[in-house]
Amino acid sequence: MRALDYVRDGMKLGLGSGSTAEIFVEVLAERVGAGLSIVGTATSQRTADKALGLGIKLFELDELGALDVTIDGTDETDAEFNLIKGGGGALLREKIVASASREMIVIVDDTKLVASLGKFPLPIEVIPFGHITTARRVAAVANELGKPNLVPKQRMKDGAPYRTDSGNYIYDCPFERIADPRLLALALSSIPGIVEHGLFIGLAKRVILAGAGGAKVLEL
Ligand code: A5P
Repeated sequence: MRALDYVRDGMKLGLGSGSTAEIFVEVLAERVGAGLSIVGTATSQRTADKALGLGIKLFELDELGALDVTIDGTDETDAEFNLIKGGGGALLREKIVASASREMIVIVDDTKLVASLGKFPLPIEVIPFGHITTARRVAAVANELGKPNLVPKQRMKDGAPYRTDSGNYIYDCPFERIADPRLLALALSSIPGIVEHGLFIGLAKRVILAGAGGAKVLEL
C-alpha cells in the first residue's frame, strides 16, 4: 500500500477510521510485525480495538502531542482536497487528530474524487441538548446559502439515535452540491450546539487515489 511510503521508523501516527483506513492499519501492523517502530493514536474506538488487536502500540493524543502523519479515508474529496468525512461517525476525533498532525494523507478510491462536494450527505455532530433546535439552525444556514429544501436527517442505529464515540448525535445533511465549502464550514462552525462538521478544509495536502490502473499520489 502506497501510504506506507510515508511512514518511517520512530514516527507518531494518527490512525483514521472506516474501511479504507482499517486496511491501512492491517498493512501497517504487518510492517510493525516485521520490525517497524511507530506509535499511534486512534480516531475511533473501532480503530483502536483493531490496531491494538494487531499489535500496534497506541497512546492517547495528549500523550503524543504533535503527530507526524495522519492517514485516513474520506467520503468525498474535491480537486483541492476539501473533504467530506464522517460517514462512519468519527469526524470529530478525525478532525482533532488530523489537525494535530504535520501532515494528513488521504487514501481513497477514485469514485470519491468529485467535481464538487455534497452528493454525500454532510455529517454534522451536535450535542444532544437542544439538537432539534440546532438542526433547524443548520436548515436556516442552508436556506441562506441557496438550499431552501434541505432537511437535516438525524442518524439512527437499531431504532435509536446514533451516538458518536463522544456521546453526541449526528445529522446527515444532503446539500447535493456545495458551491463554497469554506463558506459553509465557517457558517456551520458559528452555530452553537454543533460540535464539529464533516467538512475538512485545508487539512489534506496529499491524496493517494486508487483506481483500476493502480494507485496515484496527488499533491497540492
Ligand atoms: C469515518 O467517520 C469517516 O470519516 C471515514 O473516513 C469515511 O467515511 C471513509 O470510510 P470508508 O473508507 O469506509 O469509505
